[in-house]
Amino acid sequence: MRHATIIGTGSYLPDNIMTNDDMARLVETSDEWITSRTGIKERRISTGETTSDLAYEAATRALSNANLDAKNLDLIICATISPDSFMPSVACIVQERLGAINAAAFDLTAACTGLIYGMAIAASFIESGMFQNILVIGAETLSKTLDWSDRSTCVLFGDGAGAVILSASDQKEGIMSITLASDGSKQDYLCLPAIPLSNPFIEKGEDVIKPFITMKGQEVFKFAVRSITDMIKKLLSKANLSHNDVKYVIAHQANQRIIEVAAKTLGIPNEKFFINLDKYGNTSAATIGIALDEMVQKDMLQPGDRIILIGFGGGMTSGAILLEWS
Ligand code: ACO
Repeated sequence: MRHATIIGTGSYLPDNIMTNDDMARLVETSDEWITSRTGIKERRISTGETTSDLAYEAATRALSNANLDAKNLDLIICATISPDSFMPSVACIVQERLGAINAAAFDLTAACTGLIYGMAIAASFIESGMFQNILVIGAETLSKTLDWSDRSTCVLFGDGAGAVILSASDQKEGIMSITLASDGSKQDYLCLPAIPLSNPFIEKGEDVIKPFITMKGQEVFKFAVRSITDMIKKLLSKANLSHNDVKYVIAHQANQRIIEVAAKTLGIPNEKFFINLDKYGNTSAATIGIALDEMVQKDMLQPGDRIILIGFGGGMTSGAILLEWS
């Protein structure tokens, strides 16, 4: 059966490192508070690079890792909640810079689950026979979406990009199973407003809508733990496997405590959950691609290893993918 397999990964982080001590010079917080509540020690913050700049660099590395010419890409999907502009899409900007002249391109919004949604769409296009090679990028400059005077949110996030290239394969390795979900009734847990409605038929209101991330932290925490546990159970039962058959879980890098509580609830050893949020914070749609690429660079994945990728985020959205490394 024709299915989708990962043939290349890439990631890119801005050089500028902002530590928790740097953060404590901006808002009333401390390294001790941030580390004990979240596991985050530092994050990368753009000093001028845009989301499409980060996305382009990650994409270039993924193409080189896959040994694929950009002209062989059929589709580019960029998952982001911090695009350069509503139009053109980040994906179209990247398409032009890569010289991917044969690719269709679009952005998608599924917050921190964006890369998983993008990979699910890519897998469907590949399985249907419509496309052969698809680049999926998760890229964010969340630093521009933060209220830098709000210590409850600004300490959590960072900038970065991760990318994967999916390709059609007849081998047994590749994406084995996918599950996606959304719950719009919890939309107020995480918000990032866009341009408010304004036109000649609307009286100007007094309210100024700030284009910053707001969050109900404890509700998000509970949603995240539930999503990880429910999705992993669902994926494993669909594939008739147990967690002993899985080498690693790459969960969205939001908070170490979320991952530890989920691991304990599932009875899965912490060591199976890859963690790099201490270095980069929460880069939303980018975290899973960055983590996967770091594991590839460290040679942690061998052919035949089963891994689970799992995302959860604003919307609220969640999704997970079980795959066999090739
Ligand atoms: N430094 C110091 N004190 C702080 C900070 C900070 N950065 N932020 C909040 N506080 C204070 C609060 O003001 C409050 O003080 P008070 O008791 O005097 O009122 C106290 O710490 C406790 O605040 P809580 O919000 O109750 O803290 P909590 O223990 O819930 O931890 C946290 C907050 C870390 C955000 C937690 O709720 C959490 O991890 N939630 C998950 C959210 C998450 O990870 N979001 C990432 C984005 S979502 C996503 O990617 C899906």
